[in-house]
Amino acid sequence: MVNQRLMAVLLLGVLIIVPLTVYADRGMPHDDGDHPMIFGVETKMLGEIARNFMIFSVTVMVWKPAFIYMNKNANQLFETPKESKKKLKRVDTLYMRLHYWISFAAVVIGGLHGYGSMEKDNGWMYWAGWAGMVLMSLTGALMLWKWPPKKVRKGSRMLHTQRVVLILTIVLLFVAHG
Ligand code: HEM
Repeated sequence: MVNQRLMAVLLLGVLIIVPLTVYADRGMPHDDGDHPMIFGVETKMLGEIARNFMIFSVTVMVWKPAFIYMNKNANQLFETPKESKKKLKRVDTLYMRLHYWISFAAVVIGGLHGYGSMEKDNGWMYWAGWAGMVLMSLTGALMLWKWPPKKVRKGSRMLHTQRVVLILTIVLLFVAHG
């Protein structure tokens, strides 16, 4: 049962991450050698950084279920389960810190990339995709902070961890970028 669920979740993660990396390989669209600048930096480069950060951000879909699975089955998987669980926890803490900061950076850098590219191309779909990234970050932050009421945190967790907002965001970004 655990295995089936784990496999399904991992598969979904791979299905989201692989097209993103394939897309990354193809290079950015509008690659006609004439790139707008913002703060002295090419917006194309900012777009590439944001995209790579976003790819890192969604690897959480593979790490989290794998972490939960290894933690649950540590007795069967490791020779020294207690030690291994401690190590896993340390890796998870570090990984999640990276998840928060790199995802947040993806939103800021992606926003600058979009703003700088506006005179060239300003379709609503880019901004709808970016709004999805903002929503993911906001709900992620609300989940972590203690001050909002429990109801708000619960709703945020739901929006953040179910895949609909994320998939819609990625589809919008994909389609907008041609
Ligand atoms: C573009 C931005 C982001 C994307 C695409 C994203 C995506 C995801 C996904 C898909 C999960 C679910 C992993 C799973 O359980 O399978 C997750 C978990 C999580 N994210 Fe994000 N995230 C983003 C930004 C953030 C930010 C900025 C924060 C915090 C400031 C954050 C905090 C969290 C937390 C705390 C969890 C773990 C929830 C749990 O324990 O079940 N995320 N993220």
